[in-house]
Amino acid sequence: TDSHRIALLPGDGIGPEVMAVAEAVLKTLIHGHRLPLDYEVLPWPATDWHRRHGEMMPEDALQRLRGYDALLLGALGDPGPLNDPDRYRLSDGVSLAPLLTLRKGLNLWACERPARFYPGTVQYLADPRARDLDMLVIRENSEGEYAGQGGRLRAGTRDEIATQLEVFTYAATERLIRHAFERARARRDERDREQRPRTFTLPDGATREAQVCLITKRNAQAFWGDLYDRVFEEVAADYPDIATHHELVDAAAMKFVQAPWRFDVVVASNLHGDILTDLAAVLAGGLGVAPSANLNPSDPDQPALFEPTHGSAPDIAGQGVADPRATLFSLALLLHWLGEKNAIFYGAARHLHETLTADLAGQHPASGTDAIGVRIQGALGGNL
Ligand code: NAD
Ligand code: IPM
Ligand code: MN
Repeated sequence: TDSHRIALLPGDGIGPEVMAVAEAVLKTLIHGHRLPLDYEVLPWPATDWHRRHGEMMPEDALQRLRGYDALLLGALGDPGPLNDPDRYRLSDGVSLAPLLTLRKGLNLWACERPARFYPGTVQYLADPRARDLDMLVIRENSEGEYAGQGGRLRAGTRDEIATQLEVFTYAATERLIRHAFERARARRDERDREQRPRTFTLPDGATREAQVCLITKRNAQAFWGDLYDRVFEEVAADYPDIATHHELVDAAAMKFVQAPWRFDVVVASNLHGDILTDLAAVLAGGLGVAPSANLNPSDPDQPALFEPTHGSAPDIAGQGVADPRATLFSLALLLHWLGEKNAIFYGAARHLHETLTADLAGQHPASGTDAIGVRIQGALGGNL
């Protein structure tokens, strides 16, 4: 079988700190599971690279990244006092985070962010039913509020008008919502195999074993709300085995806190998904353990990009206290995704996921980045 190639992109702030742990863990897994996998660590995109070369990444960066099978990113974002307000400004005055350049440039149109209850993590919710938290937020990753279009009139004056255009297309909406229903089915089948079925009740009292909840703000943003609604109904007709549900985004934020166990797959626009996934992360034990996957489900040959949901955390960068487990859970998602190409990766993915889950459940005296890394290395090695 061919060897697979992945790139590690440490990035900024705590990115390199958590990526050092991920690299060590990856080495152990490659060795222990005899994975046909090579990796390279790239110095870009990164603010450091920008400082030396005047840009976040080389001109041919996207082309080079397309040559890998998968990518693991630490974090990107200004790490703090070195703030340069011009860093992300395009020549026409539009600001665009380099992460968005990667997602759009690699055509990774779906972002999946799972959140589930892990015994041992900080629980912010007192209701014991919050232990049944097990949701997957699927975020639109290519357009919407992040279309990057708009402009300024009379900029810099007291009459300034800034416009930020939101763009929602049928094509991107349809593929996203269809993907959400597919994932709901796959998750139900996985629960069936693991003998932990869930039940969702429809208004007429009938039940289903999986659910997709659509998030919009259709009461105030009727144009795209209406498009999402119609496409949702149209696609749902192909999935009579899946319960459907709609929430306005503000009410959804409230219900994530009040009754998170009621959600299964949640499908949301780019910005709504961004906000709801930080919220979902904190319900599941914090940003320190929340992974994400940027995917192109319609083209498995596009390298997928895996990254923690958190950013560069300038407030704790350089202190050695960042939790590397969000990046390690992201690595587990990466290995699982590679499993679709070569089943040997499934074993390593499961091994890593189970080790992380067990680590969270334990009572440990030390919690710094390196201490967690050493502990997980030890636990992984011991089970090889
Ligand atoms: P952040 O996610 O970096 O940090 C939010 C809070 O969570 C901070 O208090 C931080 O200390 C804490 N935190 C984050 N990761 C942690 C970890 N692994 N362990 C322990 N605590 C952790 O969000 P922010 O401060 O709003 O943004 C900082 C920068 O990161 C910005 O430039 C932003 O654009 C960027 N950002 C990048 C990504 C990404 O690369 N995927 C995601 C979010 C934000
Ligand atoms: C995330 C981040 C990014 C986003 C930023 C850095 C542009 O918050 O990955 O959640 O909004 O998508
Ligand atoms: Mn975010």
